[in-house]
Amino acid sequence: MFEQITRVTSGVPYLDALTSGGFIKGTTNLVIGPAGAGKTIFGLHFLLEGARRNENGLLVAMQEPPWAIRRDASSFSFFDHSFFAEPEKIVMLDFTPSGWELWDPDSLTYTEESEMIIEAEGVPYDETSLPTFLHKVFYHISQVVEEKKIERVVIDPLAAFQFYDYGNDFGFLRKLTTGFLANITALNVTTLAISELSGGMEHSLFGEEYIADSIVHLDMLSVRGEMIRILRIGKMRATNHTTQTLRFEINHHGITFLDSEDRD
Ligand SMILES: Nc1ncnc2c1ncn2[C@@H]1O[C@H](COP(=O)(O)OP(=O)(O)OP(=O)(O)O)[C@@H](O)[C@H]1O
Ligand SMILES: [Mg+2]
Repeated sequence: MFEQITRVTSGVPYLDALTSGGFIKGTTNLVIGPAGAGKTIFGLHFLLEGARRNENGLLVAMQEPPWAIRRDASSFSFFDHSFFAEPEKIVMLDFTPSGWELWDPDSLTYTEESEMIIEAEGVPYDETSLPTFLHKVFYHISQVVEEKKIERVVIDPLAAFQFYDYGNDFGFLRKLTTGFLANITALNVTTLAISELSGGMEHSLFGEEYIADSIVHLDMLSVRGEMIRILRIGKMRATNHTTQTLRFEINHHGITFLDSEDRD
């Protein structure tokens, strides 16, 4: 029997109307763009809207630490600190390099078990390797998802995998990224992975565009000396979505589309 498609709101006002109702529940979705394009803010829209609907969320912070993300988002009208207080509707996990330094190794309850999982899967346990890191991150995510009944997961950004040197072995990196994202989504959550695409780069770092079920491109253009923000849907499987390039600004309400005809 085929499973019915259920939609999950993006949380960005008017975007759902342009994508037949939002992301498909239980899929892996990508938000991709250069530095400052609004990727983290997009992810926060997704999580905060989920919390308002009693769909608990998890932010896996890989680059910017959770406290900084919360501080920077404080002024947005859609942001609500109460979702982060017990009983949390939004959980944040710190997997940033500064987070590792702050960790007290003795307090890590998951290490031994995750070592066992890694070994059981035939991956040599190596503190400095990407497979070990991803196994640990996944183990932690799976625990939180179960404990807190998480339905929405944001990973910000995947580019942090580059902290681990895999040289030019792109095939291996793509395999790891595919496995990591597939394992998270298999926890019965809807995943939003944030990905970096800087000027001159035509493709994502690890082939994540091909792994994802949908892609939201965010970009910035300079037009007559002014910075213009644009959003377009690169793909959305099984969805009749807008093919327009939509102008938006980031203001007190977060991501806000400019042209009224873009609003349904
Ligand atoms: N309160 C605000 N009002 C207007 N614009 C804002 C506000 N807060 C942030 N911005 C804009 O949003 C940008 C940051 O957005 P965000 O953090 O989502 O970018 P990002 O794509 O995640 O970048 P990075 O790749 O560096 O993490 C800022 O550079 C600024 O232009
Ligand atoms: Mg960001």
